[in-house]
Amino acid sequence: MSEPKKILRALAGETLETPPIWMMRQAGRYLPEYRATRAQAGDFLSLCYNSELAAEVTLQPIRRYGFDAAILFADILLLPQALGADLWFVTGEGPRLSTTTTADQLAALKDKDAIHEVLNPVYDTVKILSSELPSETTLIGFAGAPWTVATYMIAGRGTKDQGPAHALKAENRDVFEGILDLLTVSTVEYLSKQIEAGAEVVKLFDSWAGSLKGEDFDRYALAPARKIIAALKERHPNIPVIAFPREAGDKYIGFAKATGADCVAVDNSVSAEWVARNVQVDGCVQGNLASSHMVTGGQALVDETRRIVKALSGGPHIFNLGHGITPNADPENVQLMIDTVRGG
Ligand code: CP3
Repeated sequence: MSEPKKILRALAGETLETPPIWMMRQAGRYLPEYRATRAQAGDFLSLCYNSELAAEVTLQPIRRYGFDAAILFADILLLPQALGADLWFVTGEGPRLSTTTTADQLAALKDKDAIHEVLNPVYDTVKILSSELPSETTLIGFAGAPWTVATYMIAGRGTKDQGPAHALKAENRDVFEGILDLLTVSTVEYLSKQIEAGAEVVKLFDSWAGSLKGEDFDRYALAPARKIIAALKERHPNIPVIAFPREAGDKYIGFAKATGADCVAVDNSVSAEWVARNVQVDGCVQGNLASSHMVTGGQALVDETRRIVKALSGGPHIFNLGHGITPNADPENVQLMIDTVRGG
């Protein structure tokens, strides 16, 4: 047997001398080779559904930087599309969807078992990657968490404060909870298929978890994650799960234990020292360099990277950004971050 991969060792709770590293949105517009392949595909969604080209852009940052993990190239909004919502992207603005806010619109969506017809190309991407990735690189599959995906389905677009989803929660709780329940069971099917195709780890992105407060957080961020993880663990007991309840703040504490996640990813609004004391005590953590350093670079990038590595050196840690890298980032700064993590 070959050496277990570094990411899998960290996820199993091992404290490594040098943390493994990958980066959210590592395949993205800051890379000229990504922009070229996206142009070849035509547009972003065509790229997501073209298995050969989606695999190609997933591999680009692995070739350029040798990250310890590759994340499947797709998007969290492909699942609502597979459930029957219309989805398109407006250049320079972001995603648009047909809205789901009434009982009739919810009833018109498809069943969880009908999603694969649309999502089959995604599973094919995973299959290509699992045969083409270097043997030391871990393949991560992913889905959006129900609350975050629901915020887009309810508003029909990205919103600053998730206002339309909060309003539906207050005004028609049955429809709101019906959307979350459908997404919860569908996400289990979607991630199971990614695992069967070759994903070795899966990550649940709850980008807007921070706008759920108090009991709402427990009901609509924590509980769906717990249900999804329990169902996955029953089918695939050896596949680790990373949960990312972004901007959860104090609610990061105990999240891994309460949901069964093997690792909690943290954003950069909490300090690495705080994370070590309050979150890493329960197991592996991932994070949390501010992605703005990929734009600004320099000594501040080096100092902050070293500080995070040191603060989290007493337990299992996967180095990452606190959120996705932005299109205006400099590819050289990514190399500087990697050299700093690996070279000290
Ligand atoms: O991390 C990766 O490299 C894997 C691929 C991935 C993408 N989106 C590709 C993408 C992943 C894991 C996502 C997750 C995703 N998508 C999230 C959760 C994580 C987060 O960033 O908070 C969300 C909220 C979405 C929805 C989404 N997709 C939005 C709001 C946008 C538009 C904003 C933007 O950055 O342009 C996207 C588009 C998108 N998804 C791009 C990429 C590379 C850019 C599209 C392009 O190439 O034009």
